[in-house]
Amino acid sequence: MRKFYVVGNLKMNILSREEVTQYLSVLKREAENKHYQHVTLVVCPPFLYLSQFDDLPQGIAKGAQNLFSEKSGAYTGEISPVMLKNDNVEYVILGHSERRRYGGETNEMIRGKILAAIKHHMTPIVCIGETEKERRAEETDRALELQIKTLFSGFSKSQAERVIVAYEPLWAVGTDVVPTTGEILQVRVLLRKLFTEMFDAETAGRIVILYGGSVKSSFLGAVSWEAEMDGVLVGRESLFPYELVKMMGLFEEAAGKEL
Ligand code: 13P
Repeated sequence: MRKFYVVGNLKMNILSREEVTQYLSVLKREAENKHYQHVTLVVCPPFLYLSQFDDLPQGIAKGAQNLFSEKSGAYTGEISPVMLKNDNVEYVILGHSERRRYGGETNEMIRGKILAAIKHHMTPIVCIGETEKERRAEETDRALELQIKTLFSGFSKSQAERVIVAYEPLWAVGTDVVPTTGEILQVRVLLRKLFTEMFDAETAGRIVILYGGSVKSSFLGAVSWEAEMDGVLVGRESLFPYELVKMMGLFEEAAGKEL
């Protein structure tokens, strides 16, 4: 059965509990009494508000935007995977380009976080992507290969297939510049080839791959199913819950047509 994902990354937005309550009331109103068979929406609010994201309608799960690779201890300011799991978090975005840029995260650090998420039964959504400079120098494939090989180094097949990969070219994040369907498809093909070499074709076929970067519902097909992607990672548009629910509907419809 074809399965899609819409991941809403709220980033460091929504500034009060009252705003969260408002956001949730729209989300629930838009999504209630609908049944989603082919799509899951994962909403990833800031840590502080995670506990408000309970009792979500069918088809909607909650995710976090980061975690620390240790279980507990003297790690000021960090969040344990166990804390997240105990708060019903099912997914966690890892290695977002903004965490790499502002938090100095490296592929090695992110690899440790992926393993921690898997160990504690959460699904990691791992971001990769090339910079504008790498793209101009035609080094996209090389950059992505280096990231994938480090992030998945030493993983077993069963660990690898628990990971969701989000391809987010850095030049498309927050810019309203979006790659063509052909460009995204090329990355899809590259990732399938890399995963086949590292694991096997079956595992490569099981690893979910999303597109992220300036996604809007008006061109959802062009950046997702037309490019053989399994869904999208959404930034700014996720601040509008009705847009996320609209995307769920579009995926549900697209999956229905494929049957
Ligand atoms: P935008 O959709 O705002 O470009 O952000 C993309 C993103 O970084 C999602 O993780």
